[in-house]
Amino acid sequence: MRNDFPTLVIFGASGDLTKRKLIPALFQLLTEKLIPEHIKVVGFARREKTDEQFRAEMRDALSEFSRANPTAESELLQSFISRLYYQCGNYDDPQSFLKLSKRLSSLDEQQGLPGGSGNYLFYLSTPPSVFGLIAKQLKDAGLVCKPQDTDRWTRVIVEKPFGRDLQSAQRLNNELLSVLDESQIYRIDHYLGKETVQNIMAFRFGNSIFEPLWNAKYIDHIQITVAESVAVGSRAGYYDHSGAIRDMVQNHILQLLALIAMEPPASFEANAVRDEKVKVLTALRLYKGEEANTAVVRAQYSAGAIHKSHIPSYLEEHGVAEGSKTETYIAIKAFVDNWRWAGVPFYIRTGKALKERVSEISIVFKQPPLALFHHEHHDGHVEGDDMPANSLTLRVQPNESIRLNFGLKVPGPDMILDPNDMEFVYDEVFDTAPPEAYERLILNAMLGDSTLFIRNDEVEAAWTFVDSIIESWQHANAAKVHEYEAGSWGPQAADKLLANGGHRWLIY
Ligand SMILES: NC(=O)c1ccc[n+]([C@@H]2O[C@H](COP(=O)([O-])OP(=O)(O)OC[C@H]3O[C@@H](n4cnc5c(N)ncnc54)[C@H](OP(=O)(O)O)[C@@H]3O)[C@@H](O)[C@H]2O)c1
Repeated sequence: MRNDFPTLVIFGASGDLTKRKLIPALFQLLTEKLIPEHIKVVGFARREKTDEQFRAEMRDALSEFSRANPTAESELLQSFISRLYYQCGNYDDPQSFLKLSKRLSSLDEQQGLPGGSGNYLFYLSTPPSVFGLIAKQLKDAGLVCKPQDTDRWTRVIVEKPFGRDLQSAQRLNNELLSVLDESQIYRIDHYLGKETVQNIMAFRFGNSIFEPLWNAKYIDHIQITVAESVAVGSRAGYYDHSGAIRDMVQNHILQLLALIAMEPPASFEANAVRDEKVKVLTALRLYKGEEANTAVVRAQYSAGAIHKSHIPSYLEEHGVAEGSKTETYIAIKAFVDNWRWAGVPFYIRTGKALKERVSEISIVFKQPPLALFHHEHHDGHVEGDDMPANSLTLRVQPNESIRLNFGLKVPGPDMILDPNDMEFVYDEVFDTAPPEAYERLILNAMLGDSTLFIRNDEVEAAWTFVDSIIESWQHANAAKVHEYEAGSWGPQAADKLLANGGHRWLIY
C-alpha cells in the first residue's frame, strides 16, 4: 500500500452526507484494507461538539449505514473511531482555520511527521455558498501546498451542486482556481462512482463487437432515462429553486450522455478521458428561443399514487411557491452535432414521482434495410412492418444489467420473428457487491486519480447547454409546463416528442 495517504478533513461534518455516506465509505475502505489503518479524519462544522460526541454519533451512524456491519467489539471499528476528531469553527473566521491548522500539525507530529508536513484531503460537504470561502481560508491559513510540491499534497473534493447556471459555476470555478490548481480540485458527480457507469467505458472500449456500430450509420437513436419514484417530499423547498434540469440533467444525465457519445480516449488517464467528454458536451446543440418548444417537454406531477400510497400534487407540497413553474420532469431531444452522431437524437428524460425508480441507457439500432420477416405480438397478433429495432440497454440502477434485444424465429412452419432479450445481470455473475460510489470516489481522490471527477470545462459546457433551455423558458412564447399524474411515466407530450420522430420510449 502507498504511504502517502492523507488526513481527511470534512467540512460540514455535522450533516447528513457525512454520517450516511462518507464515514461508512471510509470504514468500508478500511475493512477492505484499501486504505491504511492509521488514517485520521477531522470533522469541521459550526455547531459545538466534542471529539467524544462526534465519535459517538459516527459509531451510531456506522451501525445504521455501514455495509461492513461491524460489531461494537470490532477492533477495527474501535481503532477507526479513536482516530476521528472534531473541530468547531466558523467559515468566515480566520482563527478557526488557524486552529484547524494547529490541530492538523499536532496530528502529523503524533504520526512522527514534522508538523504541517502531512498530506491533506479536504472534503467540502457544506452548502455550496461557502465552498469558495473555505478554499480561501485554507489558503490563508497555509493549508494549501503548491501543486508542484513533491513531498506533500493538498486536494479538495467539492460536493454538488456546482453552480445554478453558467455564470455562478464560472464564479465558483474562479474562486476555487484563485487558490488551488485545477489538478487539486475534485468535483464530485457520484454517478461516476457507480460501477455500472464506469462499465460504460469498459464495455465500449474493452470490447470490439459494438464499437464499429457505435455511430450515426448504424444507430437510430439513443434513450437515457433516469426515473425516480420518490416525490420531492421534505426537499420541496430546495427543489423548487432547482428543478429537474439543474438537479439531474446538468450533472448525471449529461455525464452518462458524454460517456456514451465520447470518442475512445488515447489512454485511461484523467485528462485524456475528460478531454473526450468535453468535446461531446461542447458539441451539444443549443436551443435558442422558441426552438426549445419542439425539443423540450417540461412538466409537474399532479396528485396520484405510487406503490399504493397517495402523493399530493407538486404544487401542494410544503415549501413549493404558489404558482411555481419548476419542472419535476423534463424530456429533451438532444443532438450531438459532430461527425459520429450527426442526426442521431439523444432522448433524455428524468423526473420525480414516476412509476418506478430506474436509470437506463438504450442504444436503438437502425432497422435492417428491408423488412423480410413478420413480428409476432405477445397476444399472437402478427404484423409485417413493426418489428422492434435491435436495442442494447445498459441498466445503471437498480438490478444492474446489460440487455441485448433482437428478433428470433418463432418455432413453427411460418417465418415469424419475436423480439427477445439476451441479458447479463451483474448480481448473478459476480458474487461480490459492487462498491458504493463514495467508496470509489474517496479512494480515487486519495490516490490522486481524478478520472471520475468533473473538470472545470466539463461543468461549464454542461451549464451552457442547460442554460440555453432554461433561457428559452423565459421567452414570451415558451411552451407550457405540462402535467403528469404521480405514479405514471410522465406527460403525454413527452411521448409525442418521440412519436414526432417515429420513436417511442422503451420503458413506458
Ligand atoms: N445528502 C446527500 O445524499 C447528498 C447527495 C449529494 C450531494 N450532497 C451535497 O453534499 C453537501 C452536504 O450534504 P448534506 O446532506 O450533509 O447537507 P446538510 O446536512 O444540509 O448540511 C451539512 C452541514 O453544513 C452545515 N451548514 C448548513 N448551513 C450552512 C451555512 N449556511 N453555512 C455553512 N455551513 C452550513 C451544517 O453544519 P453546521 O451548522 O454544524 O455548520 C450541516 O450539518 C451539500 O452540498 C449537498 O448538496 C448531499
